[in-house]
Amino acid sequence: MNLKDLYIDFFVKNGHKQIPSAPVVPENDPSVLFNTAGMQPLIPYLMGQPHPYGTRLCDYQKCIRTNDLDNIGDTYHHTFFEMLGNWSLGDYFKKEAITWSFEFLTKVLKMPVEKLAVTVFAGNDIIPFDEESHDLWLSLGIKEERIARTTEDNFWIAGETGPCGPDTEMFYFRSDDPVPEKFDPEDNRWVEIWNDVFMQYYKDENGNISELPKKNVDTGMGLERVVAVLEGVKDNYASSVWKDVISEIEDISHLKYEGNEPSMRIIADHIRTSVFISADNSGIKPSNVGQGYILRRLIRRAIRHAKKLGIDVNSDWESRIALKIMSKYENYYSEIKENKDVVLEVLKNEKIKFNRTLEKGLREFEKVSSKDIDGTTAFHLFDTYGFPIELTEELAKERGINVDIEGFKEKFKAHQELSRTASQGQFKGGLGGHSEKETRYHTATHLLNAALKQVVNKDVHQKGSNITEERMRFDFSCDHKLSDEEKQKTEDLVNKWISEGHEVTVEEMKKEDAVKSGAECMFIEKYPDIVTVYSISDFSKELCGGPHVKNTNELGHFKIVKEEASSAGVRRIKAILE
Ligand code: SER
Repeated sequence: MNLKDLYIDFFVKNGHKQIPSAPVVPENDPSVLFNTAGMQPLIPYLMGQPHPYGTRLCDYQKCIRTNDLDNIGDTYHHTFFEMLGNWSLGDYFKKEAITWSFEFLTKVLKMPVEKLAVTVFAGNDIIPFDEESHDLWLSLGIKEERIARTTEDNFWIAGETGPCGPDTEMFYFRSDDPVPEKFDPEDNRWVEIWNDVFMQYYKDENGNISELPKKNVDTGMGLERVVAVLEGVKDNYASSVWKDVISEIEDISHLKYEGNEPSMRIIADHIRTSVFISADNSGIKPSNVGQGYILRRLIRRAIRHAKKLGIDVNSDWESRIALKIMSKYENYYSEIKENKDVVLEVLKNEKIKFNRTLEKGLREFEKVSSKDIDGTTAFHLFDTYGFPIELTEELAKERGINVDIEGFKEKFKAHQELSRTASQGQFKGGLGGHSEKETRYHTATHLLNAALKQVVNKDVHQKGSNITEERMRFDFSCDHKLSDEEKQKTEDLVNKWISEGHEVTVEEMKKEDAVKSGAECMFIEKYPDIVTVYSISDFSKELCGGPHVKNTNELGHFKIVKEEASSAGVRRIKAILE
């Protein structure tokens, strides 16, 4: 059995329900571009909402972190990775969590206790020393010298605000050296393998800490790292997670991994992440904004490194690597199996696009790189030759010249309204936060759903929705392209409701009562037993987690900007509030 199966098996045996991995592109959470941790899709439940699968959950979650793209190429950074996790939603707490962690590591994975060490929360002005965790580890057989107490590193929060709490981290001694008696978390021969967070607080925008309604456990284990540890390799890319992908790259380039590690790792990592972004059902394509921009950067950087290795970049090299990667994941993630062709096409199209301009761009770069590159030139390379700024930076570094990044950013911002990519979108505004604008779009989505039922057909149902600061996207079941008249009538009806100023009301009820009362909902099985139902006058009633405005008169003017096919029998409307 492999690590994912062992993990799920262990926690299921201990009363947990396995939940499916959420998509890499979060639905309706504009505060992050990608899911960055196993807990992220669970935030509403960690905050107190009942989860339909109960109070003990486990999963393997696809995660993407793009904040240290520049570190890719070393032995242990990855942009995409899988996180194994188990959760208690107000169920068990420290004792069970720590005991199971210890049991899984030492009994199931058979890691020798002598090679393990842990950190626990040392305490600060607000929250005391985590004596309970300390004593639990001790009672399980971890020696006092192997329990380090730290403050900064033992308080976990994803970003600035959200559910949080003290944590205890587990480390493994990954070295042939004798294991030192005393554990020093700064000594990088000790690698962190698992993190148990005791999530009992909530931190708000003002930095105030309050107790959550329930005490939760959130754990996260980095799969790539643990596999490497178990297989006794010091380079993650030498483990079974990557080995055959790296051999495929060796095959394609007719080069050995030894001596070409950074480029081969970058290619393997970036293609894998691109596979997962483009296979995601959100339908992200390479572009100059948001997730699309990350995807573009990853593919283009992989192409650059393929060129460095002397690979013929016009060949089908990227398909071969992507297929190898997909064969490893298709049994775990259905979207990989289903969207193989989409993935191959995205990669191929972007490759063709980039190859077309790359030569010209490189010539242009040669011309301008006799001295430092100013913002305008960097933007010109981006805008005309499709050079992501990171590529210009990378090339400049090789030449020993500087790039005016700030100057580039100004140009970039002036060129487009890029609220979401300004800082690559990492954790801006905290997790789970919805801006006023998005809240308005949320309510507008309900109005549109209701209006379509009246104008087009009462059997129109929501099939998907996505909201950003700039627009809303709404997918619905419908067998025909909307006529201009239908579009106009829908738009008019929504605007009528907005101007009439209807109150938006919310109530909690049993799921079955909600369904009986005719409330609209997309996936009934995904909802907990007690649900929140939002109603607007007598024309809209939906199961929904919110948030919503109080009155429809807060929305402004509603306008449909596009109506198109989404998939068979599903149409897509893009609309804005002006
Ligand atoms: N949220 C914690 C982490 O990402 C544990 O899952 O490490």
